[in-house]
Amino acid sequence: MDRDRPIGVFDSGVGGLSILRALRAELPGEDFVYFSDAGHAPYGEKGEHFVSRRSLEIAVDLLEQHRIKALVVACNTATAAAVHLLRSHHGHLPVVGVEPALKPGAALTKTGRVGVLATRGTLSSAKFQTLLTSLRHQADFVLVPCDGLAAAIEAGDEARVRELCRRYTVEVCCFGTGPGEIDTLVLGCTHYPFAEATFRELLGPAVQLVETGQPVARQTRRLLEARNLLNPHGRGGVQWRTTGAPESLQAAAARWLGLVERPAAGSGDDDLKLAA
Ligand code: DGL
Repeated sequence: MDRDRPIGVFDSGVGGLSILRALRAELPGEDFVYFSDAGHAPYGEKGEHFVSRRSLEIAVDLLEQHRIKALVVACNTATAAAVHLLRSHHGHLPVVGVEPALKPGAALTKTGRVGVLATRGTLSSAKFQTLLTSLRHQADFVLVPCDGLAAAIEAGDEARVRELCRRYTVEVCCFGTGPGEIDTLVLGCTHYPFAEATFRELLGPAVQLVETGQPVARQTRRLLEARNLLNPHGRGGVQWRTTGAPESLQAAAARWLGLVERPAAGSGDDDLKLAA
């Protein structure tokens, strides 16, 4: 049955776990395959052509190896580069993308000023520029590309994460709830919610942090419902794939999702081939 098949979720690395966490909460009866392309990360500084090629290869792999019934692109950079290509190459497959939460940010701000942290690839994409233009009349957005931050989160290098969070929040300048200050910060890369405690410590309790996990999970539910693809028999299981080190993905899944399954299934030869 199509409904019994898993949902594919991919990212350049562990960032997409912030989306998977929301998906599992919203859709506890679904099974998932999580694909971390850590062997080719970070995407944010690699350029659009590279990221779209990887996204297309990963989608084919997930369809062929796991017969996924839907695909969640749990990466802002890959969504910006490739979601249109994924939809046109796989017309039958429901594809859900992720984009920086500018609209929720504009709705939440009281000062009318919103900071946006994302990868260089996301911020320079045509898709993001279109979104920004459509919302310019609603708020003033201050954009800062965060080179190195996703990689530091991926590596679990807390000192470097802290240093970069400090550098980039200083660059956004100036946070607060007074007139002309930035009271809302959009975390426009799926890795960044895993640095939330650091941002919170640097910015204090008054600044609102906005991420996209829940809206993406709700959109996935809507798409599955509309196509009668909700799984009546799933167990909330996750199969793991990675082009990087299985132990790193396992450690991240345990730390952030409380999952202890071994993320080794399917890594190895298949992914070496995929990496070629
Ligand atoms: N997590 C990804 C995103 O949402 C990409 C991070 C990276 O590999 O640069 O943009």
